[in-house]
Amino acid sequence: MDDDSDSRSDDEFRIETRSIHAGQDPNPETGALMTPIHANSTYEQDAPGDHRGYEYSRTGNPTRTDLEANLASLENADYGRAFASGMASINTVLNLLETGDHVVTGNDVYGGTHRIFTQVYEDYDLEFSFVDMTDLDEIEAAFRDETALLWLETPTNPLMSIVDVEGAAAIAHENDALCAIDNTFATPYLQRPLDLGADIVSHSLTKYLGGHSDVVGGALLTNDGELDERLGFYQNAVGATPGPFDAFLVLRGTKTLPVRMERHCENARVIAEWLADHPDVDRVYYPGLESHPGHEIAAEQMDDFGGMLSFELDASLEEASAVVSNTEIFTLAESLGGVESLIEQPAPMTHAAIPREERLEAGLSDSLIRVSVGIEHVDDLIADLDEAIDSALASPSGST
Ligand SMILES: Cc1ncc(COP(=O)(O)O)c(C=O)c1O
Repeated sequence: MDDDSDSRSDDEFRIETRSIHAGQDPNPETGALMTPIHANSTYEQDAPGDHRGYEYSRTGNPTRTDLEANLASLENADYGRAFASGMASINTVLNLLETGDHVVTGNDVYGGTHRIFTQVYEDYDLEFSFVDMTDLDEIEAAFRDETALLWLETPTNPLMSIVDVEGAAAIAHENDALCAIDNTFATPYLQRPLDLGADIVSHSLTKYLGGHSDVVGGALLTNDGELDERLGFYQNAVGATPGPFDAFLVLRGTKTLPVRMERHCENARVIAEWLADHPDVDRVYYPGLESHPGHEIAAEQMDDFGGMLSFELDASLEEASAVVSNTEIFTLAESLGGVESLIEQPAPMTHAAIPREERLEAGLSDSLIRVSVGIEHVDDLIADLDEAIDSALASPSGST
C-alpha cells in the first residue's frame, strides 16, 4: 500500500491490511506515518468559499475524515460518517424519518436505543413496534403502510439472539423501508451487513472498534450516496461530531481490530464451552455453541461468533450478584468490547428499568450474567470465574 491511494480501492486488500492502512497515508510533507490530531476549529480560505476542503471542524476535520474512510473500508461501504457517540449515530438515522412514520425493531434492542425510540421520538409522533426479530414472519407482520425503517441488532444483548440479516433486509425492501443494523457486537471483522442487504450500518465505536475503553464514539456507513448526503446534512446540522483526539483514538484502535477480535472469539468459545459443562450453570447463551438456536444463521452470516456471552446460574439474584462482585480479573462494569474482561448482571444493572415480570418473559432471568470476554489469558479468566462461582454459591463445583 503505497502512495497511490486511489488505486488501493481497498477491496483488493484483506481486512487485516485495510484496518491498518485504509484512509491513512503517510503525511506528504513530513512522511509521518500516523494521522495527525488536527486540533483545529476553522480553516483559512483563499477567497470567500475558496478553501482546501475544510471550512469548519463540525462540518469536517481531517482526522475525522481519515477515520471515516477507514471505517467505510472495514464495512465494505462507499461512505462513512463519524459521530460523538453510538447514540448520536442512532439519533441521526432517526433524523431521516418524518412525523407519522413507523419503525419495526427488536424487543431486545440495546436499552439506550429503546429509550431514544420511546422517550424521545414517540414524542415526535414516530411509532415503534417491538417484535421478536428472530422470527421473520413476526417482522413481516409488523410492517404497515407507514413503516419507513427496520432497525435491528444481531447478536442481541444480552441473550445473543441471532437475526437473519438477509431475510430481514429483504422484508424491509419489499415494503419500501430502509434497513439499518447496529453492528456494534459483531464488528465488521465478523459481519458486514451492507453485503447482506442492509442500507445503513450503525456502530458504537466505544466498544470493539475503539477497543480500549478510552473513547466514546459512533459511526454510520452506507453504499447509498443520496442517503449519505442526508446523513451528512444531519451530522453537521445537529453537530454531534467527534473531536480530533477521539477520532485519533478510534483510528489507533481499528488497527488492531482483527487480532483483538480473533482473541476475543477464541477466549469466548473456550469459556462458553467450559460454562456449558459447569454444574452450577443452567444455560449458556453464545452463538458459537451448537445448542444456540441461532447457531446456523450465525455460522452463515458471521465469520466467527464474537466475544460476548451470557449465562444463567442455578442461583438466586443475590447469589448471582455475589458472583459478579467476587471476580478479580473480570471487572464489574457495564459496556463491552475493550481488551479487558467485564462482567455484569443485567437484572439489577443494564436491564433494571424493565419491570421484573416483563424481564422474565423476555428470558432475562434474575441470575443471568453477561460477560464481555477480554483478551487476557483464557486460563486466568476461567480460574477467576470458577473461584467467583465457587465462593458465591453454596455448592462449590470444584471444577476447573
Ligand atoms: C449495541 C449498542 N449500540 C449502541 C450503543 C450506544 O453507544 P454509545 O454508548 O457509544 O453511545 C451501545 C452502548 O452500550 C450498544 O451496546
